[in-house]
Amino acid sequence: MRRPCIAANWKMYKTSGEVTQFINDFLPRVKDVKDVEIVLAPAFTSLTTAAALLKGSNVGLSAQNMYFEKEGAFTGEISTAMILDSGCAYVIIGHSERRLYFKETDELLARKVKAAQAAGLIVIFCIGETIDERKADKTFDVIKTQLTGGLKDVNPDKLIVAYEPVWAIGTGVTASPEQAQEAHAYVRKELGGIFGGKADEIRIQYGGSVKPENVKEIMSKPDVDGALVGGASLKADSFEKIVKFK
Ligand code: PGA
Repeated sequence: MRRPCIAANWKMYKTSGEVTQFINDFLPRVKDVKDVEIVLAPAFTSLTTAAALLKGSNVGLSAQNMYFEKEGAFTGEISTAMILDSGCAYVIIGHSERRLYFKETDELLARKVKAAQAAGLIVIFCIGETIDERKADKTFDVIKTQLTGGLKDVNPDKLIVAYEPVWAIGTGVTASPEQAQEAHAYVRKELGGIFGGKADEIRIQYGGSVKPENVKEIMSKPDVDGALVGGASLKADSFEKIVKFK
């Protein structure tokens, strides 16, 4: 049985004060949730604040990015040791915004995934096609390239895949539950090619305009094992409803 994992990706939102406010409001709301793995991914600047508040709770902490080198002259970058030191157990790698705005390639992402896992972090690895790629019937090709390119020699036990169609991120347009299932089934098949039978244990999150109103239906699909949530995770009551989708 795959335990659903639902993660909040706060992107470049929330100062430390706002993170503190959210967590103080959110933790009592979800303290009895046991059947869902809950993760928050604040900006680097509030990771240590969040870690102190989340200590001993049922909510995990993730970074949104990292660099693969151990240390060195890489101005503006953050290493795996720094992320661990900040109290994170997870890191998001390959978000479409990183691929698009910061030109992160499959090759770079493969190095990041390897370095993150070697440090003991659980990787939330994001993939997904643009609207042009979907219209050109290239969805499966894109998914395959991103998976095979980014997941070289990696450990399936420390991996979550997030399928996030780029056209559904922050747009209010969600993939239909059927579109999500179709893509997720394909992701699992490709993961099977890479990891064999272990693919059945890897959680595949759906991401892209997940909200309290649509989460239940999406989560009802057999290959959807969680969600990566942006906009609708910024308010405690909204994210609580998503986490309690049942
Ligand atoms: P969204 O973002 O929920 O605001 O569409 C999801 C994501 O980018 O992870």
